Amino acid sequence: MLKKCSFILILVINVFIMQSCEQKNNLKPMGDIDKKVNEILAGMTLQEKVGQMTQVTLSVLVKGNSLDAQPEPVELDSEKLQKALGKYKIGSILNTVNNRARSLEWWHEIINQIQEVAIHETGIPILYGIDAIHGTTYTAGGTLFPQQIGLGATFNPELVRQLNEMCAYEMRASNIPWNFSPVQDMGRDPRDSRMWETFGEDVYLNGILGSAAVEGIQGKDVVTIDQKHGAACLKHYLGYNSNSGKDRNPLHIHPRELNEKHVPAFQFPINAGAKSIMVNSGILNGIPVHASYDILTTLLRNEMGFEGLVVTDWADIDNLYDRDKFASSPKEAVKLAINAGIDMSMVPYDFDFCDYLVELVNEGEVPMSRIDEAVTRILKLKMELGLFESPTTDYENYPDFGSEQHENLALDAALESITLLKNDDQTLPLKKNIKVLVSGPNANWMRPMNGGWSYSWQGEKTDEFAQEYFTFLEAIENKIGKDKVTFVEGVSYDMQGPYYQEKDLDISDAVRVAKGVDCIILFLGENSYCEKPGDLYDLYISENQTQLAIALANTGKPVILVLNEGRPRIISKFEHTMAAVVQTYLPGNYGGTALAEILFGDVNPSGKLPYTYPMFPNSLINYDYKPSEKQERLEGLYDNESDVAIQYGFGHGLSYTVFKYSNLKVSSSELTSKGSVNVAVTIENTGNRAGKEVVMLFTSDLYASINPDNKRLRRFMKIDLDPAQSRTIEFTIRAEDLAFYNKENRLIAEKGDFVIRIGDLEQIITLTETVTFREPSNIML
Ligand code: BGC
Repeated sequence: MLKKCSFILILVINVFIMQSCEQKNNLKPMGDIDKKVNEILAGMTLQEKVGQMTQVTLSVLVKGNSLDAQPEPVELDSEKLQKALGKYKIGSILNTVNNRARSLEWWHEIINQIQEVAIHETGIPILYGIDAIHGTTYTAGGTLFPQQIGLGATFNPELVRQLNEMCAYEMRASNIPWNFSPVQDMGRDPRDSRMWETFGEDVYLNGILGSAAVEGIQGKDVVTIDQKHGAACLKHYLGYNSNSGKDRNPLHIHPRELNEKHVPAFQFPINAGAKSIMVNSGILNGIPVHASYDILTTLLRNEMGFEGLVVTDWADIDNLYDRDKFASSPKEAVKLAINAGIDMSMVPYDFDFCDYLVELVNEGEVPMSRIDEAVTRILKLKMELGLFESPTTDYENYPDFGSEQHENLALDAALESITLLKNDDQTLPLKKNIKVLVSGPNANWMRPMNGGWSYSWQGEKTDEFAQEYFTFLEAIENKIGKDKVTFVEGVSYDMQGPYYQEKDLDISDAVRVAKGVDCIILFLGENSYCEKPGDLYDLYISENQTQLAIALANTGKPVILVLNEGRPRIISKFEHTMAAVVQTYLPGNYGGTALAEILFGDVNPSGKLPYTYPMFPNSLINYDYKPSEKQERLEGLYDNESDVAIQYGFGHGLSYTVFKYSNLKVSSSELTSKGSVNVAVTIENTGNRAGKEVVMLFTSDLYASINPDNKRLRRFMKIDLDPAQSRTIEFTIRAEDLAFYNKENRLIAEKGDFVIRIGDLEQIITLTETVTFREPSNIML
């Protein structure tokens, strides 16, 4: 009944909004978007244009103090709305109030009211943006799937596309059309508190999965976006990573490295039609990216061909003055950012940006052409999203919000991401008739399973919202019966506190119980965090957790270590005592169910590590390291096939079956500058159960004028094989796939020999001539 009432109210508001839209702008639903945008732009005042370039957080518009927790129930404050939309004519709003998820009904009421006022005051609908990072973070009842690092581990672009499509659907069901996702930053440093928001350490994998995510969010039509899809926002362009464990630390990345291992992660999804980009909040090579004309205009617009909307990150224009000491005043900060190429400022708390920008244009410090360009992009996106025709949606039209079908997709993703890292003596899969001890701080909470951006920014409200889903412990109990499972947490997190806060260490109870069971399933890792609060001081897993692992291993019972963590915390002090190791990453609400399926053999694991798991804090390395970084094996500590001191390599992941690779063939041993070589390989499932395998093609440049990488991932494909089934697959390699940036920063492929490697098979091909693909640009990055 309640639902029905609000449905009627929404209809009435929708009709009103649509009429107002047509009266104000006389828009027809279809037609030439550019022409319509120009018409609207021509009728706008400077104040109106600058308003469109302004984004504030929703807290600014509701009753209560925007910087503090606001009273519940949250209500819009009509005076504040009037100020934001009537006086400042703002164009965009983001996030939610009191940093917590809300119901579908709530979102509809709030956004419908906002749109009504926006259209009445400005004639232009608001562009509402949100961080729907692994599902609709801020809508209760939505479908939360694995965080992006887990999606990296699936190596499955089609699955990533489907998940993002589902996310867009649930976001539109929530009345929100703009998603600040996917993250195209490179997860190359395990200390980074945002590593779990990335697809991992390889630029090609990032590019392919990022494009799939964009296609999922926006739909297949690259121009207009229907009401089941939304606009994607690639972030955080460019070079936003931490190499110190401290979020937003300044970075120095050589232009060659930027071009080769960062730019393509954005270029691929730009080519796939991404509608917007959010800027790196940090400082790159001495210059804050928000003030870099070279990065925001010369590279992004002129070289990469991006035509969409560029939005700042949180308060980052202010940061040019306040934090970075780059601008001499807040007003100069606005001038630098807008002239560098920013289209919209995520302010987010006040309207000074509007005042300064109007003054700067009147003073001739910011050209009107720059304003018109930015506003054109903003209006265009609003139009492409269909907001002028339908500024709001009706959640009744989204019957699949939180549906079983969506749950199943999230479960599939968790199943495909979970990665079996070690399995001595085929410890896994476990039999269902055994007695187990479940222990560890990650065993029985939904918060660490989901990570940050889950019901709130830091994820600390997850257990309040996710009660209906199964923790790891509950899922194991469901699978084999409660009577066979004893739970002793051993170490516990402070669930309301920061991620590193641990409470008790109770080893004795766990050890006592361990004596009476067949095996121990130990859940270690991290609690949830996001951005700065996730800063890290020591990459080793906590001392408490280490002690618990060692004590349990000393009982002589086989210990299965299940990791649940946003970044690879070092486990080398006890990894050699573990019978099996499983990485779940941050698997979302269906992670418990998925893990139980895998542990007890109902599903064969197929995830592959999307990063290099370090063994020591001083041996941080990526798989594409330089030959001289190779280290000798460390006797006793070292037991995998790689020659560097790492725990597990990029792409590593075991299965319950065996895949045999054979017949690696190249169609020609010579590759010409314009030609291609087909690479074929046969994979056979020689084990006794069906399984999925990720076939990866790597190349190595044997000699090059720039110290070449050890190897590079160039192609991959995930396949499904029944027992005894085999399949021959083919990849095509061109000269461009072998290219790198040379000392003049020119993209070239140098003639000479290259190794093509799939599994443990190799072939050599020769590139017959040197070829240039891109001339160096004149910019200093
Ligand atoms: C984060 C972005 C996010 C934005 C809006 C920032 O602090 O860096 O990733 O999209 O907040 O919530």
